[in-house]
Amino acid sequence: MTRESFSAGDDQTLRLEIGPDRVGHVVFDRPDSPVNLLSAAVLHRIDAMIAELESRIANGQLVAIILESAKPGSFIAGADVGEIGEVRTAEQARAASTEGQRVFRRLERLRVPTISCIDGTCLGGGTEISLHCDYRVASDSNSTRIGLPEVRLGIIPGFGGCVKLPKIVGVQRALDIILSGKPVPAARAGRIGLVDRVIPHHAWERGIGDFVADVLADRVPKAEPRLSFQGKLLERNPVGRKVLFSLARKRVLSETKGRYPAPLAAIDVLEQTYGLPPDEAYPIEADALGELLIGDVSRALVRVFGLSQDAKRALPDSVMAAAHDIRRVAVIGAGVMGGAIAELVAANDIDTVLKDIDQGALDAGMRHAADLLRKATRARVFTEEEAGLKLARIDGRLDYDGFEEVDLAIEAVVERMVVKQQVLRDLEDVLDPEAVLATNTSSLSVTTMASGLERPERVVGLHFFNPVHKMPLVEVIRGELTGDAALATAFRFALGLGKTPIVVADQPGFLVNRLLGPYLNEAGYLLDEGVPVELIDGALLEFGMPMGPCRLLDEIGFEVALHAGRGMAAAFGDRMSPPDVLDRMIEDGRLGRKNGRGFYLYENGKSTGVDPTLGSLFPSATGDASGDEIRSRCLWLMVNEAAWALEEDVVDTAGQVDLAMIMGTGFPPFRGGLLRWADSEGLRQILDGLERYEGTLGTRFAPAPMLRGLAEQDGTFTHPS
Ligand SMILES: NC(=O)c1ccc[n+]([C@@H]2O[C@H](COP(=O)([O-])OP(=O)(O)OC[C@H]3O[C@@H](n4cnc5c(N)ncnc54)[C@H](O)[C@@H]3O)[C@@H](O)[C@H]2O)c1
Repeated sequence: MTRESFSAGDDQTLRLEIGPDRVGHVVFDRPDSPVNLLSAAVLHRIDAMIAELESRIANGQLVAIILESAKPGSFIAGADVGEIGEVRTAEQARAASTEGQRVFRRLERLRVPTISCIDGTCLGGGTEISLHCDYRVASDSNSTRIGLPEVRLGIIPGFGGCVKLPKIVGVQRALDIILSGKPVPAARAGRIGLVDRVIPHHAWERGIGDFVADVLADRVPKAEPRLSFQGKLLERNPVGRKVLFSLARKRVLSETKGRYPAPLAAIDVLEQTYGLPPDEAYPIEADALGELLIGDVSRALVRVFGLSQDAKRALPDSVMAAAHDIRRVAVIGAGVMGGAIAELVAANDIDTVLKDIDQGALDAGMRHAADLLRKATRARVFTEEEAGLKLARIDGRLDYDGFEEVDLAIEAVVERMVVKQQVLRDLEDVLDPEAVLATNTSSLSVTTMASGLERPERVVGLHFFNPVHKMPLVEVIRGELTGDAALATAFRFALGLGKTPIVVADQPGFLVNRLLGPYLNEAGYLLDEGVPVELIDGALLEFGMPMGPCRLLDEIGFEVALHAGRGMAAAFGDRMSPPDVLDRMIEDGRLGRKNGRGFYLYENGKSTGVDPTLGSLFPSATGDASGDEIRSRCLWLMVNEAAWALEEDVVDTAGQVDLAMIMGTGFPPFRGGLLRWADSEGLRQILDGLERYEGTLGTRFAPAPMLRGLAEQDGTFTHPS
């Protein structure tokens, strides 16, 4: 089709192509980028484009407008988050929101039908511009996901999303979409009326043509929210709506303990704007956005988002160029980690061999993988058919047959150096010389493991966290002998699995476990002083940790924790000495959650509460440290250890520490990460506190030189934003 073309602006970011059928195609095509983003500059161009459309419509040159993207697998990926971080005042934020609303409402008023054609990721402002079109169609491709993830950045949709979405899908579903921030796949978008038609990806262009023809022939009814009988009952009367909003508030408060203001603000905005004329509704949305955007929580979350974007680009192009393609993976050791890693790899449609030396262990590993896939099916991540195909990709074996085809082998056998070295030697015999050898060790030296091999440069650490399918962090460990190809391959592989990789130096505990060490130890020392489990865990839950340190020790298991603790003490000396609580627990036949007896008791894997008989194990359960003291002791030690780790170049930046602790331990994101939190507390105060405790409790509190240096110069770990 020959198309007449017009470009809004001096490049191809936004262009109009008009075919002989007088259908105008507004094409988003951000230069030099795999995705389209909505920046202030793009918004300005959309405005100019609408002016052009208005005049062409007035001249009879256009009968319909289509919005589309020239990027494969992506429609519009949302706002330019960098710009959000630059806003300084609520007034600026409100003005930006009002401008976006004005432009989208101008689009809404065009006098010919407008159709947003969504093939791929459609998020934030991309969804909001689509909501202001008369119709939306989506391709059934797996990459098509439509969402409003703003709450994850501590804000709410501010370009009319809060006002428009309830009108299109109803209040309840609008709340679900906005409060969860989770994007909706195409099929569901079709079912709930978020899109008017789902078109098979293979017939995308033709399907759009048919849809336009149907619209022009008046064959597409104007969609009403598709509500169930009960949904209608609730949404169509004020009392029912009040119930919906109040239930949503309760749910948010129980999930977030009120620490995240955005979801509550979103509920308020939806409630206040319901049924209001647009001229009154839109300003309410803009006001709420303005307040949220300059708040501490949004600042923290926007920074964490930026850090996770930076993490993807952490290795220079020259190193990344050495990465190998991975078509086939082997996982050696089908235990807790091996089974889960095999599942993750297969879930990403990569053929996987899962090998063990024991048939029973192999069967258990295969069952574990199958269970995880079943859970994903129940959570509607995959259909049953897809899960079946993914499971079929895992080939469970006891021998090395077919290993010559493997591009990456990940060993996850028992945590013993001699066993791991033997496994790597065996692998060297059977693998292609170019294949990469990764180890999932959580505490052993990658360098020692590799030395003695013929090609030690292909050994790299790939440290997944438990549970593998949930924890977003992967530490990629660069041993002293690790070559660029192995490093880049492991890094890109982790990214491809949807994880956040962070390159760390080969030092005991790497980064996350090293920082957890003194934190968990301190919980043990507090127990030894007779401070009850409930007080310790309660204090850190109150801070926002996903679980308290005693509960975390139960999860890790006391034997593993003690082994790791001793290793760390051997490497770092007294400041990491484990308390003898763990010994005592093990002597008492307690291993943690895995045998149902830890600080807590467990039945069928679920905690039934703190063990009431624990008191007999501790000198006196009468300690009464305050929540503040518990938090200070545990968290300041973690901050201090981070300073040591930064000084020793375990990672390069404070931002990497913050991201790793959020992604690897669930450190509360609303606090912006460990070191951002430390900065906000004041390093001077932390230094004084450490010195005080050093005097009363011992040398484990001795401040790290970097922390002392920063505090004495009124410096900070992170750059204020
Ligand atoms: N469990 C965790 O939370 C966790 C977290 C991160 C990393 N890790 C690390 O992952 C690795 C595995 O840990 P896990 O908890 O899954 O252990 P596990 O004991 O559950 O599983 C180890 C498996 O390795 C098998 N195995 C032993 N020798 C073997 C050999 N020569 N060849 C093939 N298989 C062999 C065993 O039969 C067993 O099935 C360890 O290095 C551990 O430090 C564990």
